Amino acid sequence: MNPPDRLTIPGIRSRKGAEKLVCLTAYTAPFARILDEVADILLVGDSLGMVLYGMESTLGVTLEMMIAHGKAVARSSVRACVIVDMPFASYQASPEEAYRHAAQIMAATNCSAVKLEGGEEMADTIQFLSKRGIPVMAHIGLMPQHVHQMGGFRYQGRTDDDKARILADAKALEKAGAFAIVLEGIVEPLARQITSALTIPTIGIGASAACDGQVLVAEDMAGLFSDYVPKFVKRYADLAGELRNAAKQYAEEVKAGQFPGKEHCFITATAKPPLKAQ
Ligand code: KIV
Repeated sequence: MNPPDRLTIPGIRSRKGAEKLVCLTAYTAPFARILDEVADILLVGDSLGMVLYGMESTLGVTLEMMIAHGKAVARSSVRACVIVDMPFASYQASPEEAYRHAAQIMAATNCSAVKLEGGEEMADTIQFLSKRGIPVMAHIGLMPQHVHQMGGFRYQGRTDDDKARILADAKALEKAGAFAIVLEGIVEPLARQITSALTIPTIGIGASAACDGQVLVAEDMAGLFSDYVPKFVKRYADLAGELRNAAKQYAEEVKAGQFPGKEHCFITATAKPPLKAQ
């Protein structure tokens, strides 16, 4: 059972036009514990393939990986609504297959909803899932699982036709039952237009402040994942620098014989030091 204070799906829907939604990715227990204090939504994104596993895209992420990380995040949070991404090739073939995999994710992880990428072509699947008790967050615009089709991670909605198609996608996904929708990598006027056309919240990433909420990859936001920093990311800390300095100091102290010090050692058998580290 979910903790009583966890934000619910109706709770997310009710924030439309009232209060901005704060969403961050979380893949592990320590991040989930810390981010749970401030985030409304913890998204176990399949971006973990790139951020944690060093993959070039999200295409190699498996259902097992999403379930393992989803369990860690749900177990380590009590406030935020936990949503788990459906990985590539786990939902596109048919609504029935999508249902089986989404149900597997929800039963194993105790998350509250799943997210999947795709426009109008996924409307039948979203309807199938949401009518059977699986809340779905949709994801349109720049869709990382379509990286090859898009010719790279490029912002979307460059032509009037593209803009019209993305707006039509958003409307179709709302009609199909999505409870919220991620808008990734689209220009501000389009994000504004979609946000005012829908009654469900839009969560932007690289889609301007016109959305009902924002999501960032936590490692990007905190400056831990510095291989590539997209234009839309604001770094609020330099965790990579902090970690580098801490590791350097540790290495120097180990080499100089300064670590461990007396206070880190079990010195006599009779002293009975506490079993837990200080
Ligand atoms: O996989 C992910 O982390 C995502 C968000 C960045 C929206 O889909």
